[in-house]
Amino acid sequence: MYTLHIPQCYKLLGQHYGGSKRKFFKKITWFWCFCRRKGSFFQPKKTPEKIFTPYQMGPFKLSHRIVLAPLTRSRAIGFVPQPAAATYYSQRASEGGLLITEATGISPTSLGYPCTPGIFTEEQVEAWKPIVKAVHDKGGVFFCQIWHVGRLSHYAYQPDGQAPISSAAKAASGVVYLPDGTGPVPYPTPRALEAEEIPKIVEDFRLAARNCIRAGFDGVEIHGAHGYLIDQFLKEGLNNRTDRYGGSIENNCRFALEVVKAVADEIGADRVGIRLSLHQFYSDMQISDPLALGLHLIQGLNKLNILYTHFVEPRMGPGTASIETEKNLLPYRKAFKNTFLAAGGYSREDGIDAIESGYADLVVYGRLFLANPDLPKRFALNAPLNSYDRSTFYTQDQVKGYTDYPFLEEVSVK
Ligand SMILES: Cc1cc2nc3c(=O)[nH]c(=O)nc-3n(C[C@H](O)[C@H](O)[C@H](O)COP(=O)(O)O)c2cc1C
Repeated sequence: MYTLHIPQCYKLLGQHYGGSKRKFFKKITWFWCFCRRKGSFFQPKKTPEKIFTPYQMGPFKLSHRIVLAPLTRSRAIGFVPQPAAATYYSQRASEGGLLITEATGISPTSLGYPCTPGIFTEEQVEAWKPIVKAVHDKGGVFFCQIWHVGRLSHYAYQPDGQAPISSAAKAASGVVYLPDGTGPVPYPTPRALEAEEIPKIVEDFRLAARNCIRAGFDGVEIHGAHGYLIDQFLKEGLNNRTDRYGGSIENNCRFALEVVKAVADEIGADRVGIRLSLHQFYSDMQISDPLALGLHLIQGLNKLNILYTHFVEPRMGPGTASIETEKNLLPYRKAFKNTFLAAGGYSREDGIDAIESGYADLVVYGRLFLANPDLPKRFALNAPLNSYDRSTFYTQDQVKGYTDYPFLEEVSVK
């Protein structure tokens, strides 16, 4: 390799142009202008950040690694998803992009919030079908988050006005809104499930997973996070049982693993994920060693060979406020053998870093995706984002704050 310096160039080109300096400089000026016009053509091609590149998640070929978080939107009138959900989810769908639904009840005892959907009646399954189709029509991969709220409910939601169920007969602190939107009222004291009743709840999860596949979903995410029924078994602060479902890490994980196994047996392990929030302590749901519990759980999940685990960052306090902490998800990421999803407080740049460094395989976005239906595109272009409107997170309006967040083109045109 050698370098030609300007005088040499001049000499060579000058010879070529018959020794005329004027002709030489004219040609050089033309060439310089041409290069400037072509601009990027001459610049080295920038490789896209890994978050924008394909990822093979088990049988699913994803085209990027930006995932829609499960987001309760309280638009399901009578616990049945409404047609506007087809617009809402398809707006957020992209070719090869993974979407996870809002938390969706598995059984009549599973509900505890007004206007949240279920997937345990034929009417609900039928209502989900066009929503799933709308996402598939845009090439999206769609998982349903299946959910049992446990003690975070009220007699008014329960069949025959019974007490809600949980791992222990201890009421949650805080308040609950009733199915008709009235309230709030304090949480009632739940009834601790008898050990013999637990297989029935496991069966409800299995049937709900079957219904998800019937509705056309690609898979399910089991909601094991945020203080709901599975979490109520995992966390020793609440779970004071002395039978095989409490009293040790192994026993506290038993219900979660039974649910995962039943669901995996029903629809195939490569269609099953689970969401966990081991570092979020809801009222009395403390836990002395989240890492030990998490690693035991992961050992079981690895044996069942499920598709993914979806962890909420320790920095997320209960709710959506961030807290200071040194803790992170790396030990869980290293221990779990299949796809690892991380969620909670991610910006575009944090997400890019998380993927580049191998901290996670996919990054899950909640509030940013809620307010930006075309979030993957905006991230790819590093375009400005719409801000979210907290006051419309949980209203029943089928348009405002739901399907009316503008796309980038609409913003640019204004
Ligand atoms: C409006 C709203 C509804 C939510 N609903 C659910 C839900 O149904 N299931 C769930 O697991 N998490 C739910 N979350 C938590 C989000 O999935 C996510 O973990 C949280 O918003 C933090 O991520 P972010 O910082 O990207 O928003 C909800 C959060 C918000 C803001």
